[in-house]
Amino acid sequence: MSNKEPEKMTNDRILVRAIEPKDEEAWNKLWVEYQGFQKVVMPLEVGKTSFARFLDPTVKLWGALAFDTETGNAIGFTHYLSHLTSWNVEEVVYMNDLYVTEYARVKGVGRKLVEFVYKHADELGTPSVYWVTDHFNHRAQLLYTKVAYKTDKVVYKRIGY
Ligand SMILES: CC(C)(COP(=O)(O)OP(=O)(O)OC[C@H]1O[C@@H](n2cnc3c(N)ncnc32)[C@H](O)[C@@H]1OP(=O)(O)O)[C@@H](O)C(=O)NCCC(=O)NCCS
Repeated sequence: MSNKEPEKMTNDRILVRAIEPKDEEAWNKLWVEYQGFQKVVMPLEVGKTSFARFLDPTVKLWGALAFDTETGNAIGFTHYLSHLTSWNVEEVVYMNDLYVTEYARVKGVGRKLVEFVYKHADELGTPSVYWVTDHFNHRAQLLYTKVAYKTDKVVYKRIGY
C-alpha cells in the first residue's frame, strides 16, 4: 500500500466492501485513529474481539471498509449491528461507528459507508437504521442531515459504565 496522491482522491475511486480477514492491519490503523478522535484508548482485546466478531457469521456485528482503489489504502470504516426491539417485528440496525481518515474527508466516503449499511440492512430485511452522535459534532451532522433525519431523543447511560 502507498500514500500516492491522496489529496487528489476523487469520488469514483471509492470502494466499500465488507471486512475480510486480510484487512486486520489496515483496519487496526484506522481503529487507533478513531480512538484518538473519540479521545479514548481501548484495550487491545476490544479491537481483537470486535474484528473477530465482524468475521463470525453467527454474530450480528458487521464491519465494512472504504478503500481508495487507486492506492489500495483503507480510508474509512463503519461498524453496525442488528438487535431486537419491542417496537418492531423485525430487528433494527444500529450503526455503532463511522470514521473516515482525515485526508479523505468531504469526498463522499462517509456517505458511501452509510449507503453500504442501508443496503445491507435492506438485504437483511431490517431496513430501520439509527445511530447517535455528539451534539457538537457539526461536521458529521452535515452528512447526517443528508442521509437521515434527526430525532428528538436524548441518550442516557447508566453511571459508571
Ligand atoms: C463524519 C465523517 C464520517 C463524514 O465523512 P466524509 O467522508 O467527510 O463525508 P462525505 O464527504 O461523504 O459527506 C459529507 C456530506 O456533507 C457535506 N459536507 C461535509 N463537510 C462539509 C463542509 N465543511 N461544508 C459543507 N458541506 C459539507 C458534503 O457536501 C456531503 O454532502 P453530499 O454527499 O450531498 O455532497 C468524517 O468527517 C469523519 O470521519 N469525522 C471524524 C469521525 C466522526 O466524526 N465520526 C462520526 C461519529 S458519530
